[in-house]
Amino acid sequence: MNKVVKPYKSSKDSKKKQVEEMFDNISSNYDFLNHFLSFGIDNIWRKKTIKVVAEDNPKLILDVATGTGDLAFAAQKTMNPKKIIGLDLSNGMLNIGRTKIEKRKLKDKLEFIQGDSENLPFKDQYFDAVMVSFGVRNFENLNKGISEIFRVLKKNGKIVVLEFSKPKKFPIKQTYFIYSKYFLPLFGSLISKDKSAYHYLPESVEAFPEGPDFLEKLREIGFLNLKLKKLSGGIATIYSGKK
Ligand SMILES: C[S@@+](CC[C@H](N)C(=O)[O-])C[C@H]1O[C@@H](n2cnc3c(N)ncnc32)[C@H](O)[C@@H]1O
Repeated sequence: MNKVVKPYKSSKDSKKKQVEEMFDNISSNYDFLNHFLSFGIDNIWRKKTIKVVAEDNPKLILDVATGTGDLAFAAQKTMNPKKIIGLDLSNGMLNIGRTKIEKRKLKDKLEFIQGDSENLPFKDQYFDAVMVSFGVRNFENLNKGISEIFRVLKKNGKIVVLEFSKPKKFPIKQTYFIYSKYFLPLFGSLISKDKSAYHYLPESVEAFPEGPDFLEKLREIGFLNLKLKKLSGGIATIYSGKK
């Protein structure tokens, strides 16, 4: 059983409620902070993730924990599938994404809906592919979230997950430790004005069952053909599997 890390230590609300509140709070600065704090590498990681999704040429894609929709927009641009549905708990994040849909005139191709990954509002075997970037470590119940993804995927459908992980080797391990313990909380809280959010980020990465442990969870739920690809010396990892 992994430790449950929540954003606001003094709150008695569930992790899910706190995560929704936190992302609502930081939504207006989220895109800027993402690119600033990762020196733009997050977009390269998303492109690599989409490459793995695109291998199977999916037509109908679900982007779970879509946030402001960056993964969904990048997938649309690269693959131009029939439709991508983005789902997220936070309406604050989704509203930023919806503005981007309007600006980019992509109403027919993209749709963002509020919902919970642990109780997906779709019938069984509906999507060709489900992708999640930087979302799974925020789930309150990881097994439930992954099981729901399994349920809504068609047979042979693909799950692709991009998530932070912990680099293991010198000097990236030491540099990343200093960066995530000091630089990230300092600049994150200064710019987002939410002190907890950028302390929660490294804590949630620390608690996440990464690497082979996450693949084992996917296997237990029923996924096959499991693969893992480390990015940038292990700062992030792409996981994939088939139903
Ligand atoms: C770090 S953001 C990632 C957003 C986007 N995928 C990206 O790559 O920038 C994490 C998102 O997960 C969402 N989230 C967390 N738990 C969720 C759940 N149970 N159901 C749906 N969305 C969830 C949050 O609201 C937040 O928008």
